[in-house]
Amino acid sequence: MDDSVSKPTNCNAVRCQLEMGESLHLALDKYDLLNPDWKPLRKRDSLILPLKSGLKDEQLRVLKDLSFEVHLINQEFEKAELSNNPHAQLRRMVSNWLADTSNGAELEVLVSQLPQKWERYGDMIVLPERAFESDGWSELLNRCSESQVEALWRCITKALSGKRLARQHPIAKDIFRSSQTELLFGESGWVEFTDHGVQFGFDATQVMFSSGNNTERRRIGNIPMDGEVVVDAYAGVGYYTLHMALRSQAMHVHAFEMNPQSIKGLQWAIKANHLENKITVHHGDNQLLLPNVYAQADRCHLGLLPSSEHAWEHAIQCLKPSGGWLHIHMNVQEDDIESWRTATLEKLEILAEAHGRKWSIESQHLEKVKWFSPKVRHVVLDVHCRSRDA
Ligand SMILES: C[S@@+](CC[C@H](N)C(=O)[O-])C[C@H]1O[C@@H](n2cnc3c(N)ncnc32)[C@H](O)[C@@H]1O
Repeated sequence: MDDSVSKPTNCNAVRCQLEMGESLHLALDKYDLLNPDWKPLRKRDSLILPLKSGLKDEQLRVLKDLSFEVHLINQEFEKAELSNNPHAQLRRMVSNWLADTSNGAELEVLVSQLPQKWERYGDMIVLPERAFESDGWSELLNRCSESQVEALWRCITKALSGKRLARQHPIAKDIFRSSQTELLFGESGWVEFTDHGVQFGFDATQVMFSSGNNTERRRIGNIPMDGEVVVDAYAGVGYYTLHMALRSQAMHVHAFEMNPQSIKGLQWAIKANHLENKITVHHGDNQLLLPNVYAQADRCHLGLLPSSEHAWEHAIQCLKPSGGWLHIHMNVQEDDIESWRTATLEKLEILAEAHGRKWSIESQHLEKVKWFSPKVRHVVLDVHCRSRDA
């Protein structure tokens, strides 16, 4: 605890540097740790964000894994004004809609089932899967006319200060990991927004964007890559490609992507961020195209879940004979993380030897990005391959 900013109060909070405030706010909201009833406080160059009361140690442990530098403190907050509190706005406006539509029948139950979190891409609000799909809500919405349902989506959009509304469906199990977002209110699924200073654009009803990988995009963009040639084997709309080209200052990024919808977003963002000379898009299956950049890269990013293993052998060959870095994404059972790390390094050594690379292969860092499911973590292993001859 840091006493220098604490006041006698019983509200737990986190304090962070002002410039990381927005990312931390998003992350706290995502993990349901943020207390929306209190107004965040700015003190000189730091931001203090209120935490929900009664959080358990294991919930708070997530904070440590977020790789933000934060301090847990006690702080006195002012009550958030209604206009600053989207949860309260949502409750109030949906209650009004219920009063008009169904004379307020079941109002309390239905209001208690309102979504507690959502994501925002530019002016589009994306509700979680199953929002408004409880038995009570389904029954009511089935009875409503089209215009009544539209009025509900419009009032939710307004309450959450957006212009369009969508609902997340599970990511498709196809090779593209396509988005199944359903547009509820608004005309088009195209969204544009800024993520850590990088501009993104894509059709949210066609491709996925995982806001849970926010901390990893920030971390990758903080790694200096000046003068490096980088291969991004699964570029998508540029989740990592753009951060590596713009923030890490890579000299050139070769971005491999097979989904035409993702490529549309990637090409839009390359223009918007003025990166035309720094990124080459390779449209097609990376299994066929990666050989075109063998022995050219200083770094290879392998961002596919649940596993990118089928590109490891290519990645080894994409690195220059002198070696380089690999960033390997994987979904791993929490209890198996250490054995997975060891097995992965052994596999990479075998592949490197098979391709005549005389390297020392080691990993000093494994990033725990997010919980994929209750016992499975999305992790990223940073692997350094160094020539033994050097
Ligand atoms: C799920 S996305 C990456 C998501 C990203 N890591 C994030 O943070 O949100 C993975 C991308 O890899 C692409 N992909 C999968 N297999 C591929 C292959 N063999 N060749 C090229 N692209 C591929 C998919 O189309 C998809 O756009």
